[in-house]
Amino acid sequence: MRSFSLCATALALAGAASAASVAEAPHLVHAAGRTALFVDGAPYLVLGAQANNSSNYPAMLGKVWPALEDMHANTLEIPVAWEQVEPVEGRFDFSYVDTLVAQAREHGKHLALLWFAAWKNTSPAYAPEWVKFDNQRFPRMVDRDGKASYCLSPFGEETLAADRKAFAALMSHLAQIDGSRHTVIMMQVENEVGTYGLVRDFGAKAQAAFERPVPAEVLAHQPAPVKHAASGNWREVYGDYADEYFHAWAIASYIEQVARAGRAALDLPVYVNNALRDAVEPLAPWKADFASGGPTYDVIGIYKAAAPHVDIAAPDLYNPASAQIDATLAKFQRPDNPLWVPEMSHAPGYARIVYDVLGRGALGVAPFGIDYTTYTNFPLGTKETASRVIVEPFAPAYAVFGSMDRLWAKWAFEGRTHGVAEGDDRKDQSITLGPWTATVSFQEWQFGEKSWPNHPTAQPPGTETPSGGVAIAQLAPDEFVITGQHARVRLAPAQPPAAGHGAMFARVEEGHFDATGQWVMERNWNGDQTDWGLNFTATPVILKVRMGRY
Ligand code: DGJ
Repeated sequence: MRSFSLCATALALAGAASAASVAEAPHLVHAAGRTALFVDGAPYLVLGAQANNSSNYPAMLGKVWPALEDMHANTLEIPVAWEQVEPVEGRFDFSYVDTLVAQAREHGKHLALLWFAAWKNTSPAYAPEWVKFDNQRFPRMVDRDGKASYCLSPFGEETLAADRKAFAALMSHLAQIDGSRHTVIMMQVENEVGTYGLVRDFGAKAQAAFERPVPAEVLAHQPAPVKHAASGNWREVYGDYADEYFHAWAIASYIEQVARAGRAALDLPVYVNNALRDAVEPLAPWKADFASGGPTYDVIGIYKAAAPHVDIAAPDLYNPASAQIDATLAKFQRPDNPLWVPEMSHAPGYARIVYDVLGRGALGVAPFGIDYTTYTNFPLGTKETASRVIVEPFAPAYAVFGSMDRLWAKWAFEGRTHGVAEGDDRKDQSITLGPWTATVSFQEWQFGEKSWPNHPTAQPPGTETPSGGVAIAQLAPDEFVITGQHARVRLAPAQPPAAGHGAMFARVEEGHFDATGQWVMERNWNGDQTDWGLNFTATPVILKVRMGRY
């Protein structure tokens, strides 16, 4: 596993790509509790789009790339199914992967590949038929009464051996066709693992392991939510949480073997994604309310302990409640677990979440179901399948971040970025920026105040439902790059100035960064354009703002 740490003084140099670093495979670099995904020698911002589940065939790809182009996405997430690369045991066919990689290069896109194998939304549906219908060789989990579950057991030795072998074969193939090209930048191993309706495997092997002492590395990484014995078997240490935590350990241990074998062939960053549990309600033991054993926020420590070759446990955002999104993002972003959102709904309200996620310094984000195969996963996503509905809402934000993606990724790595998305309550939000505070408000016209008697009562177009988002990078104490949509930003000193003193805009330049990262001013905002704060409409622009004091 390759993973680098930088000391703080070296951080400034991190953006400079050298000939040696360009040859390096994509990898994660850690510094000061933050992480960057380095691709070709510099931090990379994933402006991702995930294709629909069954778009993983060459005949479908023609309906995938145009959606990415229209959205201004730079990275496609798409499945590689075990059933398609090893339909007959031991006979691998990577022709789809070859086509995919070649087309990604033609379209100038990177790839994050999703290994759909023993678990896809917990089910073995994507395992080859020779696996999923042979309960003798590839056992299913059983409940307390010995009744088989739909789910494969993480204790199936032949299941693990076969899954591991297939994933390693895929990674060896990628090493041959892409080892020096870096089209593929990340791998997801399995998909939304865990089990619905059964807390863990009660088969003989599982039961024996459950009764053994909790491994020391788990004890070191995963505190018990309720204090019990400091060591002992799973029940003794984790009490009512023991079954779920044990299942997380069992699945994470399985994934570790798959990831490790794959990375021995081609060492790319690896992540697992999660069908979330409620992030707002107080933590409680599993009660059939989420997929037990998946990398939910409360068991990230177990995944860290059991799966050191898995870099990231990542949240899939499909609950639109802003309190859930806030709490989830906060819980998944940890010094040992970089924030990366590999899936979120493509419903239009989610476009504003891009500003929040990228402002928090995430490696990237990817709406799900982005292709023109005319499938939509309503009610998680939209009802309609038109580009106008599933792709276009994201395009403006992706266009602005895309125009400064390497810079934004570097600033995020340096801890300079912040972001908010309009909440369901539609209230103002504030961002602390050293000596300044940014107040972000929503449903504002570009001119005037809501408090004016003659102020229009009609909502500005496009703000009928929460749609606002703002992202800010602080380049220097008084200097900011700000972008956003459907939002007003006001900057004021964090501490009230002494009598007779004040603060005002020095410059509010609208412009863009050129291909070398140099700022190109197009105009300076003043007068009506700044008297009522910095007002972002449906079409985001980039502002370079400098504040001054008198
Ligand atoms: C989350 C899964 O990870 C995706 O593969 C997909 O099934 C969506 N849910 C629902 O469309």
